[in-house]
Amino acid sequence: MKLFDVYPLNNISIEKAAGSYVWDDKGRAYLDMYGGHAVISIGHTHPHWVKRIEEQLHKIAFYSNSVIIPLQQQLADKLAAVSGKTDYQLFLCNSGAEANENALKLASFYTGRKKIVAFTKSFHGRTSLAVAATDNPAIVAPVNETDHVVFLPFNDVNALHEYFVKEGNAVAAVITEGIQGVGGINIASDLFLQTIRSLCNQYGALFIADSVQCGYGRTGKFFAHDHVGVEADIYSMAKGMGNGFPIGGILIAPHIQPKHGMLGTTFGGNHLACAAALAVLEVMEQEKLMELTAENGTYLIEQLKAIPELENVRGRGLMIGFDVPNHIKDLKKILLQEYRIFTGEAKPNVIRLLPSLALQREHIDEFLQSLKQAIIFFK
Ligand SMILES: Cc1ncc(COP(=O)(O)O)c(C=O)c1O
Repeated sequence: MKLFDVYPLNNISIEKAAGSYVWDDKGRAYLDMYGGHAVISIGHTHPHWVKRIEEQLHKIAFYSNSVIIPLQQQLADKLAAVSGKTDYQLFLCNSGAEANENALKLASFYTGRKKIVAFTKSFHGRTSLAVAATDNPAIVAPVNETDHVVFLPFNDVNALHEYFVKEGNAVAAVITEGIQGVGGINIASDLFLQTIRSLCNQYGALFIADSVQCGYGRTGKFFAHDHVGVEADIYSMAKGMGNGFPIGGILIAPHIQPKHGMLGTTFGGNHLACAAALAVLEVMEQEKLMELTAENGTYLIEQLKAIPELENVRGRGLMIGFDVPNHIKDLKKILLQEYRIFTGEAKPNVIRLLPSLALQREHIDEFLQSLKQAIIFFK
């Protein structure tokens, strides 16, 4: 049987990993500045994470949501402590798309309304409503097209005001990333997030903070939206949550009341996933990874800004992007092939850095040195 060929692949097979490095089948080490697409939060195969999963595996891996799973409450308590969102409620699922799908659905249940406001260059996932709120027609199937979603220009406060004056009473939710990831590392301005909050309050709509990529400590605060001090009604989470073990979830503000049967999933919140997610939060706390991320991110951004060939260096914490000018357009490829460094990208010319939050200063210096040499390569 053939694999359904939907991924443009690098011709590399990864066999093992530890911390911020991965090794291919020929035993060659690669520095992972991509974190397997922002997923690796505490470092590949972290010993505490491995131990926690292994121990859980010997007890029970899965039982359905028809019984009490105490690990879910332990995870909720730990999330409250680490995120500071102590009065929120937790619903667990399996991926980022599913988290956003549930968030959007919940907003519609809560408000009884149908309109969703999303923004240019947004990415919210590939399930039906999440993809309809994603600004990329190439991945929206005809059946996913809907008039219920409207796209406004990102960071445009006037456009938001104008839209709400006309349609505000029909809006169920406004959904935005605090920093757009797939869209190319675009930071939502303070005023933009504050305006969303106040318009949602005024018109009775819900504010959904898609934190699938920019959340879970990646920007040096638990949620990117926290940099602005704005509270969302629902936070969606996934990538860093399990350090590679599939798990997603939404944090739901206390004013949104649950009803039996309203949301549900077979696999969401299973024992093994909860054990993995608990291990992540325990390590984040123990190793002070959010503080480390803030410090290392500031250092890395400063150093990148000092490299004249890189344009428009931007980001927060370890969610960083820069534009690659045309004369070094193959920089990402050269970094991988010649220097064995994985980086991320965003079309057409952005390199995205999304390494593990446990990245050490020596890894950053190794990366910077290789980056400078790679740039010289083009001269
Ligand atoms: C901001 C954001 N939301 C949602 C998703 C979808 O997550 P998943 O691929 O786990 O469904 C992604 C994935 O890249 C993302 O970056």
